[in-house]
Amino acid sequence: MTRLAIGPASQSLGKSLAERLRLEAASVLFKEFPDGETYVKLTEVSPGDDLIVVQSLSPPQARNLMVLLQIASAARDIGVRRISVVAPYLAYSRQDKMFLPGEAVSARLVAKVLESCGVQRVYVVEPHSAESLSFFRIPAVPVSPVDDIVKFLGDRTGSVIVAPDEKRVPDARELASKLSCDYGWVEKTRDRDTGEVRSKIGSVPHGKKTAVIFDDIISSGSTIVKAAELLRSIGFEEIEAGCVHGLFVQRAEEKLAAAGVRSIFASDTIEGKMTRYSVAGSIAKSIEKDGP
Ligand code: R5P
Repeated sequence: MTRLAIGPASQSLGKSLAERLRLEAASVLFKEFPDGETYVKLTEVSPGDDLIVVQSLSPPQARNLMVLLQIASAARDIGVRRISVVAPYLAYSRQDKMFLPGEAVSARLVAKVLESCGVQRVYVVEPHSAESLSFFRIPAVPVSPVDDIVKFLGDRTGSVIVAPDEKRVPDARELASKLSCDYGWVEKTRDRDTGEVRSKIGSVPHGKKTAVIFDDIISSGSTIVKAAELLRSIGFEEIEAGCVHGLFVQRAEEKLAAAGVRSIFASDTIEGKMTRYSVAGSIAKSIEKDGP
């Protein structure tokens, strides 16, 4: 029998996924000790079962990673046959190489600890880069949420989808093609030491009123703020900003509003106050394709 264990960081997405895949949920008892240590007890799972664990590595990342490891390790001790993990947001992916000497390659570390707990397959929604998944020796399946985003955005024939840096141009192109609208991009550089963002217009079609800036992650909001300011300076009247993984730290929402961003949307890979659409459909399709 295949069961679904829903971790504390993905309660809403986990329930949607259980419904779509018609899977019984295993019980995950989660507690926190007064000193902050986490405790997990997994029941309603039997030796020989297959288990899919859904737990985002949203903030607090290290704690949510620990809880995921605790669930996987408990499953292994019970004698689960196959442990698959859905990490809707895989934290630490941005550190997928040693950009400066002496830096820890955190993405590799996360892959290794998950494998060491007996995880045999991992699904990651919109991984930050191919490199971040290349550290896994087990199958690591990237899940594209594009169909869920298209469904959420609806009719956008009058808008331009804008990538806030060159790396995201393929995403903007794909979204625009599925929405039958134009796309463009902003060029961005980030100072590796200070984190300061510098942007300039790359290529953006003129004559449209609305720009939808779409990024994989919105964290401090700096990337979107720079792009929004540039787009306003070339005549866009309405700016919307969206992402898959909405971290929204350091008062990002306020900064975006001050830069003239009219609406913000993020998915439930990180369940938060900007969550406006679910990626459960895309994850379910991916799992059904592989067989749980
Ligand atoms: C970076 O390469 C990512 O694609 C995002 O653009 C970045 O993580 C966004 O961060 P922030 O909101 O802090 O500018």
